[in-house]
Amino acid sequence: MAAEVLNALNPRPGTRYADGTIGGAGHAAIILAASSPTGWLFGCDRDGDAVEAARARLAEFAGRFEIRRGNFAELADWVPAAACDGVLLDLGVSSRQLDCARRGFSFQHDGPLDMRMDTRQLLTAADLVNGASAGELARIFEELGGERDARRFAKAIVRARERQKFKTTRELAELIERISPRRGKRTHPATQVFQSLRIAVNDETGSLKRGLDAVMKILKPGGRLAVITFHSLEDRVVKDFGRARSRDYTFAGEVDVPELREPRVPELKWVTRKAIRPGAAEIAGNPRSRSAQLRVMEKI
Ligand SMILES: C[S@@+](CC[C@H](N)C(=O)[O-])C[C@H]1O[C@@H](n2cnc3c(N)ncnc32)[C@H](O)[C@@H]1O
Repeated sequence: MAAEVLNALNPRPGTRYADGTIGGAGHAAIILAASSPTGWLFGCDRDGDAVEAARARLAEFAGRFEIRRGNFAELADWVPAAACDGVLLDLGVSSRQLDCARRGFSFQHDGPLDMRMDTRQLLTAADLVNGASAGELARIFEELGGERDARRFAKAIVRARERQKFKTTRELAELIERISPRRGKRTHPATQVFQSLRIAVNDETGSLKRGLDAVMKILKPGGRLAVITFHSLEDRVVKDFGRARSRDYTFAGEVDVPELREPRVPELKWVTRKAIRPGAAEIAGNPRSRSAQLRVMEKI
């Protein structure tokens, strides 16, 4: 979605951007190139390997960026208030993380059940799989992965770990495959279980909610936020945030009762209310992009 991100953020010389998920700095490099020679980029990633890779990738733009290791939820702690003309959040995991067996993100590679984006964090996927109750595991699989067999999988995990604790991605993937054979299905039966464990281990929903609040602080009025999501749960968080902040009223509680509305000035407007999806050529070149959706908002 590089072209769409460029189009949304429109980097120009003399402007400043933040990339909260710098990863391998693919997007960051095109933002810096497009804003040459004076554009500036603040970048962060929770993953220490990504931060190193990004610094190396951006060497040609030395003197025009600052990169820190950390959660984008903390961007407003170090990026000055109202400093940015545009912010990008390209959520989820990178191909580099998925393809690295020792990080334990994928059932396609055998590795430790880890899944931490920030390896300084203590909680790992193995801690959840071996320590959470059946009820808690089922809630994770159902709410964060939309897994229909959540309870069955959770019970089977709890029974299996009484004999032997889970250590590797393969052990977990094989258990799920045994109770839910693939039978020609396109996706692996452990896809949702792995996705939901990753979201839980990294508190991705909580980080996203706090991150969106932080972005509002560092954006200038007229500055744009571009968010790329990869599953419906995070897309819903972005949509709810955009809807709430673009309303010209607030209401107390969960239900919007017209008589109880309090007028207020909206904080942002949608630039593209409908999500932008990658084209066929991009999906053909990068099959992982097929579930990506880009939403763009502008601070008022
Ligand atoms: C899809 S990749 C980003 C790829 C990047 N846009 C590029 O062009 O190379 C997602 C990255 O976001 C990072 N990440 C995910 N959630 C994060 C968070 N809450 N704070 C900081 N980094 C995060 C991951 O570690 C990963 O490196």
